[in-house]
Amino acid sequence: QKYYNIAIDGPAGAGKSTIAKLVAKELKFIYVDTGAMYRAIGLFAARNGINTEKETELGEAVQKADIQLKYEDGGQQVYLNGENVTEHIRTEEAGKMASAVGKVKAVREKMVELQKKIAESSNVIMDGRDIGTVVLPFADLKVYLTAESKVRAERRYKELTEKGISCNIEEIEKDIVARDYQDMNREVSPLKKAEDAVALDCSYMSIDEVAAAIISLYKKAV
Ligand code: C5P
Repeated sequence: QKYYNIAIDGPAGAGKSTIAKLVAKELKFIYVDTGAMYRAIGLFAARNGINTEKETELGEAVQKADIQLKYEDGGQQVYLNGENVTEHIRTEEAGKMASAVGKVKAVREKMVELQKKIAESSNVIMDGRDIGTVVLPFADLKVYLTAESKVRAERRYKELTEKGISCNIEEIEKDIVARDYQDMNREVSPLKKAEDAVALDCSYMSIDEVAAAIISLYKKAV
Protein backbone atom coordinates (compact mmCIF):
# COMPACT_ATOMS: atom_id res chain seq x y z
CA GLN A 1 0.00 0.00 0.00
CA LYS A 2 1.19 3.47 -0.83
CA TYR A 3 1.06 6.07 1.89
CA TYR A 4 1.08 9.75 1.06
CA ASN A 5 3.54 12.20 2.59
CA ILE A 6 3.60 15.97 2.82
CA ALA A 7 6.78 17.61 4.13
CA ILE A 8 6.72 21.09 5.65
CA ASP A 9 9.96 22.79 6.62
CA GLY A 10 10.81 26.31 7.59
CA PRO A 11 12.13 28.61 10.30
CA ALA A 12 10.76 28.92 13.83
CA GLY A 13 7.33 30.46 14.22
CA ALA A 14 6.35 30.48 10.54
CA GLY A 15 3.10 28.76 11.46
CA LYS A 16 4.07 25.27 10.31
CA SER A 17 2.26 23.40 13.06
CA THR A 18 -0.95 25.46 12.92
CA ILE A 19 -1.16 25.01 9.16
CA ALA A 20 -0.15 21.35 9.20
CA LYS A 21 -2.85 20.56 11.75
CA LEU A 22 -5.51 22.13 9.53
CA VAL A 23 -4.30 20.36 6.42
CA ALA A 24 -4.12 17.05 8.31
CA LYS A 25 -7.70 17.44 9.43
CA GLU A 26 -8.91 18.22 5.94
CA LEU A 27 -7.02 15.38 4.25
CA LYS A 28 -7.47 12.95 7.17
CA PHE A 29 -3.70 12.58 7.51
CA ILE A 30 -1.73 12.22 10.72
CA TYR A 31 0.13 15.39 11.67
CA VAL A 32 3.62 14.58 12.92
CA ASP A 33 5.33 17.40 14.82
CA THR A 34 9.02 16.43 14.73
CA GLY A 35 10.14 19.52 16.67
CA ALA A 36 8.38 18.02 19.69
CA MET A 37 10.76 15.07 19.56
CA TYR A 38 13.83 17.32 19.67
CA ARG A 39 12.17 19.31 22.44
CA ALA A 40 11.67 16.11 24.46
CA ILE A 41 15.36 15.22 24.01
CA GLY A 42 16.23 18.76 25.10
CA LEU A 43 14.14 18.25 28.23
CA PHE A 44 15.87 14.93 28.86
CA ALA A 45 19.29 16.61 28.57
CA ALA A 46 18.26 19.47 30.88
CA ARG A 47 16.85 17.12 33.51
CA ASN A 48 19.95 14.96 33.47
CA GLY A 49 22.37 17.86 33.55
CA ILE A 50 23.94 16.91 30.24
CA ASN A 51 26.09 19.59 28.64
CA THR A 52 24.78 19.83 25.07
CA GLU A 53 28.19 20.99 23.84
CA LYS A 54 29.64 17.59 24.74
CA GLU A 55 28.41 15.70 21.72
CA THR A 56 29.76 12.25 22.60
CA GLU A 57 28.27 12.38 26.07
CA LEU A 58 24.92 13.52 24.72
CA GLY A 59 25.01 10.92 21.95
CA GLU A 60 25.46 8.18 24.53
CA ALA A 61 22.93 9.55 27.00
CA VAL A 62 20.27 9.91 24.33
CA GLN A 63 20.23 6.15 23.85
CA LYS A 64 18.51 6.06 27.25
CA ALA A 65 15.82 8.49 26.15
CA ASP A 66 12.88 6.58 24.78
CA ILE A 67 10.67 8.87 22.72
CA GLN A 68 7.22 7.71 21.71
CA LEU A 69 4.57 9.53 19.76
CA LYS A 70 0.95 8.60 20.23
CA TYR A 71 -2.01 9.94 18.34
CA GLU A 72 -5.06 10.52 20.49
CA ASP A 73 -8.14 12.31 19.08
CA GLY A 74 -6.02 13.53 16.20
CA GLY A 75 -3.53 15.24 18.53
CA GLN A 76 0.05 14.16 19.02
CA GLN A 77 1.17 13.19 22.50
CA VAL A 78 4.88 12.93 23.23
CA TYR A 79 6.18 10.46 25.78
CA LEU A 80 9.67 10.58 27.24
CA ASN A 81 10.51 7.31 29.00
CA GLY A 82 6.82 6.69 29.56
CA GLU A 83 5.98 10.17 30.84
CA ASN A 84 3.66 12.40 28.83
CA VAL A 85 5.70 15.59 28.31
CA THR A 86 3.52 17.16 25.59
CA GLU A 87 2.73 20.31 27.60
CA HIS A 88 6.12 20.58 29.33
CA ILE A 89 8.00 21.13 26.09
CA ARG A 90 6.05 24.10 24.74
CA THR A 91 8.20 26.82 26.35
CA GLU A 92 10.72 29.06 24.53
CA GLU A 93 13.41 27.54 26.74
CA ALA A 94 12.54 24.05 25.47
CA GLY A 95 12.80 25.38 21.91
CA LYS A 96 16.32 26.60 22.58
CA MET A 97 17.28 23.29 24.17
CA ALA A 98 15.83 21.45 21.17
CA SER A 99 17.99 23.49 18.83
CA ALA A 100 21.07 22.74 20.97
CA VAL A 101 20.52 18.96 20.99
CA GLY A 102 19.46 18.98 17.33
CA LYS A 103 23.04 19.75 16.28
CA VAL A 104 24.18 16.33 17.42
CA LYS A 105 24.38 13.61 14.76
CA ALA A 106 23.49 10.70 17.07
CA VAL A 107 20.36 12.53 18.22
CA ARG A 108 19.25 13.21 14.65
CA GLU A 109 19.86 9.65 13.50
CA LYS A 110 17.64 8.31 16.23
CA MET A 111 14.85 10.81 15.55
CA VAL A 112 14.96 10.40 11.76
CA GLU A 113 14.65 6.62 12.05
CA LEU A 114 11.53 6.99 14.17
CA GLN A 115 10.05 9.60 11.81
CA LYS A 116 10.63 7.46 8.73
CA LYS A 117 8.92 4.56 10.45
CA ILE A 118 5.80 6.60 11.20
CA ALA A 119 5.62 7.77 7.57
CA GLU A 120 5.87 4.19 6.32
CA SER A 121 2.64 3.18 7.98
CA SER A 122 0.32 6.19 7.62
CA ASN A 123 -0.51 9.12 5.42
CA VAL A 124 1.34 11.94 7.14
CA ILE A 125 1.96 15.64 7.01
CA MET A 126 5.22 16.12 8.88
CA ASP A 127 6.82 19.40 9.87
CA GLY A 128 10.34 20.23 10.97
CA ARG A 129 13.64 21.45 9.54
CA ASP A 130 14.98 18.48 7.56
CA ILE A 131 11.82 16.72 6.45
CA GLY A 132 12.02 17.48 2.73
CA THR A 133 15.81 17.15 2.62
CA VAL A 134 16.46 14.10 4.84
CA VAL A 135 13.44 12.41 6.39
CA LEU A 136 11.05 12.23 3.42
CA PRO A 137 13.14 12.88 0.31
CA PHE A 138 10.39 11.33 -1.84
CA ALA A 139 7.47 13.20 -0.28
CA ASP A 140 4.52 13.78 -2.62
CA LEU A 141 4.65 17.47 -1.75
CA LYS A 142 7.32 19.57 -0.07
CA VAL A 143 6.63 23.07 1.19
CA TYR A 144 9.18 25.52 2.54
CA LEU A 145 7.11 27.85 4.68
CA THR A 146 8.58 31.19 5.68
CA ALA A 147 7.47 34.54 7.06
CA GLU A 148 9.36 37.70 7.94
CA SER A 149 10.98 37.47 11.37
CA LYS A 150 9.02 40.51 12.57
CA VAL A 151 5.73 38.84 11.65
CA ARG A 152 6.81 35.56 13.26
CA ALA A 153 7.75 37.37 16.47
CA GLU A 154 4.38 39.15 16.51
CA ARG A 155 2.50 35.87 16.12
CA ARG A 156 4.53 34.17 18.86
CA TYR A 157 4.03 37.20 21.14
CA LYS A 158 0.27 37.05 20.63
CA GLU A 159 0.18 33.31 21.27
CA LEU A 160 2.14 33.65 24.53
CA THR A 161 0.24 36.64 25.88
CA GLU A 162 -3.05 34.89 25.11
CA LYS A 163 -1.81 32.05 27.30
CA GLY A 164 -1.16 34.61 30.05
CA ILE A 165 2.62 34.40 29.69
CA SER A 166 4.28 37.80 29.88
CA CYS A 167 7.00 38.37 27.32
CA ASN A 168 8.93 40.96 25.37
CA ILE A 169 8.47 41.12 21.61
CA GLU A 170 12.02 42.33 20.80
CA GLU A 171 13.44 39.49 22.85
CA ILE A 172 11.23 36.98 21.07
CA GLU A 173 12.41 38.21 17.68
CA LYS A 174 16.03 38.05 18.82
CA ASP A 175 15.54 34.46 20.04
CA ILE A 176 13.81 33.41 16.81
CA VAL A 177 16.59 34.86 14.66
CA ALA A 178 19.29 33.22 16.82
CA ARG A 179 17.56 29.82 16.69
CA ASP A 180 17.15 30.04 12.88
CA TYR A 181 20.82 30.96 12.53
CA GLN A 182 21.83 27.95 14.59
CA ASP A 183 19.45 25.63 12.66
CA MET A 184 20.59 26.90 9.24
CA ASN A 185 24.29 26.79 10.02
CA ARG A 186 24.73 23.47 11.80
CA GLU A 187 26.80 20.80 10.09
CA VAL A 188 24.27 17.96 10.21
CA SER A 189 21.01 18.39 8.29
CA PRO A 190 20.82 22.18 8.42
CA LEU A 191 17.51 23.89 7.74
CA LYS A 192 17.30 24.65 4.04
CA LYS A 193 14.78 24.52 1.24
CA ALA A 194 14.83 21.20 -0.61
CA GLU A 195 15.42 21.82 -4.31
CA ASP A 196 12.01 20.45 -5.20
CA ALA A 197 10.14 22.24 -2.39
CA VAL A 198 7.60 24.96 -3.10
CA ALA A 199 8.53 28.15 -1.24
CA LEU A 200 5.62 29.89 0.40
CA ASP A 201 6.01 33.22 2.20
CA CYS A 202 2.98 33.48 4.46
CA SER A 203 3.78 36.86 6.07
CA TYR A 204 0.65 38.42 4.62
CA MET A 205 -1.59 35.38 4.26
CA SER A 206 -4.24 34.14 6.67
CA ILE A 207 -3.99 30.67 8.18
CA ASP A 208 -6.90 29.48 6.02
CA GLU A 209 -5.30 30.86 2.87
CA VAL A 210 -2.05 29.04 3.54
CA ALA A 211 -3.85 25.77 4.34
CA ALA A 212 -5.94 26.07 1.17
CA ALA A 213 -2.82 26.76 -0.91
CA ILE A 214 -1.11 23.64 0.44
CA ILE A 215 -4.17 21.45 -0.13
CA SER A 216 -4.43 22.66 -3.69
CA LEU A 217 -0.69 22.05 -4.30
CA TYR A 218 -1.08 18.56 -2.88
CA LYS A 219 -4.07 17.75 -5.09
CA LYS A 220 -2.13 18.87 -8.13
CA ALA A 221 0.88 16.80 -7.08
CA VAL A 222 -0.84 13.42 -6.64
O1 C5P B 1 9.58 23.23 15.37
P1 C5P B 1 10.07 23.51 16.77
O2 C5P B 1 10.18 24.95 17.10
O3 C5P B 1 9.30 22.75 17.80
O4 C5P B 1 11.53 22.89 16.80
C1 C5P B 1 12.40 23.09 17.88
C2 C5P B 1 13.84 22.92 17.42
O5 C5P B 1 14.07 21.54 17.13
C3 C5P B 1 14.24 23.65 16.14
O6 C5P B 1 14.68 24.96 16.38
C4 C5P B 1 15.34 22.77 15.57
O7 C5P B 1 16.60 23.10 16.11
C5 C5P B 1 14.99 21.39 16.05
N1 C5P B 1 14.39 20.59 14.99
C6 C5P B 1 15.23 19.98 14.09
N2 C5P B 1 14.73 19.17 13.12
C7 C5P B 1 13.41 18.96 13.02
C8 C5P B 1 12.51 19.61 13.91
C9 C5P B 1 13.04 20.43 14.88
O8 C5P B 1 16.43 20.16 14.16
N3 C5P B 1 12.95 18.14 12.09
